[in-house]
Amino acid sequence: MTKLLRFAPILLAACLAAPPASAQSRADLLERGRYLGETVTFCGACHNTFDRGMQPVEGMTLAGGRVFEERGLRAVAANITQDHETGIGSWTDVQIAAAIRDGHRPDGSLIGPPMPVESYRGISDRDLAALVAWLRTVPPVRHAVTERSRYPSALTPLGPPIVSVPEPASDDPVARGRYIAVNLAHCMDCHSAQLSEGRADPNGRGARGLVLEGPWGAVQAANISSHPTEGIGRWTDEQILGAITRGVSADGRRLAAPMGGRSPIWARMEPADLWAIIAYLRSLTPQDR
Ligand code: HEC
Ligand code: HEC
Repeated sequence: MTKLLRFAPILLAACLAAPPASAQSRADLLERGRYLGETVTFCGACHNTFDRGMQPVEGMTLAGGRVFEERGLRAVAANITQDHETGIGSWTDVQIAAAIRDGHRPDGSLIGPPMPVESYRGISDRDLAALVAWLRTVPPVRHAVTERSRYPSALTPLGPPIVSVPEPASDDPVARGRYIAVNLAHCMDCHSAQLSEGRADPNGRGARGLVLEGPWGAVQAANISSHPTEGIGRWTDEQILGAITRGVSADGRRLAAPMGGRSPIWARMEPADLWAIIAYLRSLTPQDR
């Protein structure tokens, strides 16, 4: 592993090193990164600084400090602004990319749950470069967050460093939807049967999942497989869209904060991306758990 970690930056450097040829393509890359970071992956859901009522604190975008307590384990989201001392401003592009997709810091330590590294391992080279370009534009905020994830899996490497991930097929909505729901928006981290230690079971996608605790109480991620009664198999496309973009269930009930809070952000997703997610959800094996 040590050996692999040593070579990983070189491989990642190769994928980041192909600089966009023109100013226009650089602008496109940054725009893509902003769309992903602020809307689809919505890193701020975890990395913004929140007050006690779980409202984001103004002027502290991505400055970290949100505490996660699940299954008796604890983690605190890091400051990922461009501040040089308390954020990631002094990291190189390659080091930031390695943190997101390979889950380790420049000092080699592993980044633990609930940072969705397992999902982010599938982010394409282009989207990874776009996210890094966007993170570079995040204003520095001085805010020290030093505590690290106490999940045991934070000590276990997820696998060898990722060398390269191609774009998903653009003409296949299910493949695109899987990429968005699994790898970018990390829907399936919550909406899957859970293995121990804060990891989703890839064989239990769509099943009832993570129990989230917060000011809203404890709420379990619903079954969103295509099962007709346990899941959302009988919902119309518009009802599924309503849960994602308005935070309301098929029966009109307002969904709890983990969905309700994200839905105004996801409402800004490109329509093609939303329809691709729905196509993917419809393709999930019915789960009765
Ligand atoms: C579900 C919550 C969650 C989401 C979503 C999330 N993160 Fe994280 N992230 C965390 C937590 C918690 C940590 C600290 C983990 C630890 O202590 O090992 C972390 C750590 C990091 C680190 C390491 C920073 C350091 O100084 O140690 C980086 C970089 C990072 N996240 C970037 C991102 C980016 C970029 C996104 C969006 C593409 C993102 N994260 C989305 C929860 C999240
Ligand atoms: C941080 C965890 C989390 C993430 C990420 C997440 N969800 Fe959810 N989701 C929940 C929880 C918790 C509920 C149940 C809320 C409630 O019952 O009030 C829920 C409910 C839903 C429902 C309504 C199901 C029902 O029976 O009412 C749908 C549909 C849904 N989510 C789809 C998605 C999609 C699609 C994504 C990704 C774009 C996503 N969720 C991402 C936690 C999450």
